Amino acid sequence: MLLHLIKVLTAYKPNEFSKKIKKQTKAKHDHIESHPFIKEMLSGELSHFKYAVYLNNLLPIYKSVEMFLFNKRNANSDIVQSRKIINDVNNYSNFLNVDLNQSHLLFYKDWLQHLLGKDDFYKKSELYIRWLADMYGGQIIKRNIKFASKYDFVDIRGDIRFVRQLIEDDINNENVDQFIEAVNASYDHHYNLVERVYNATMEPL
Ligand code: HEM
Repeated sequence: MLLHLIKVLTAYKPNEFSKKIKKQTKAKHDHIESHPFIKEMLSGELSHFKYAVYLNNLLPIYKSVEMFLFNKRNANSDIVQSRKIINDVNNYSNFLNVDLNQSHLLFYKDWLQHLLGKDDFYKKSELYIRWLADMYGGQIIKRNIKFASKYDFVDIRGDIRFVRQLIEDDINNENVDQFIEAVNASYDHHYNLVERVYNATMEPL
């Protein structure tokens, strides 16, 4: 595990813009990381049902990022997260004996609407948060997740480089501050989702 983490953390040498983005979004990262939902995910105390509802709410966000940002030119099936999430959601549905797609516990709609109103440059803020969260924090969290194919990457170092380059390709001195603003706004949607799933009245299994 330690070796794996070292491999992940040393996969890429971030450029000056990536360093700036990380620094100026760190407060939001640490804020969500300290939410009890995420802490319980990390410690293995979170109910399977809450995690499955969370996952099901993230699916449309992943799908929309993939639809707009991944194409034949940059095809890399190892980072098509929606396929893995569908697989995990189906496994949870069978395990818990609930149809998660019939669930009324859908919280993502305002977030998706916000995302769809943005151009590809802004959609990359979501690529940044979600994909890097899976590739970094996800590698720690997955130990305590029952169905965790979302965090499996065949070539994680190559995938980190691929995603980071996709982002760095678009960032320059003129737009880096707008990107940071978009990342911080996306973190708020992530925070709202975990807050809403955590506090929702639902059957904990
Ligand atoms: C217990 C939960 C978490 C842990 C332990 C964790 C841990 C980490 C670690 C070790 C890194 C690499 C930092 C480095 O390069 O020095 C990282 C990066 C990152 N994490 Fe988390 N994380 C967690 C939760 C989250 C969540 C919930 C999100 C967003 C929803 C998130 C988003 C990110 C992003 C975007 C990066 C890349 C930062 C950058 O290098 O620019 N993380 N995380």
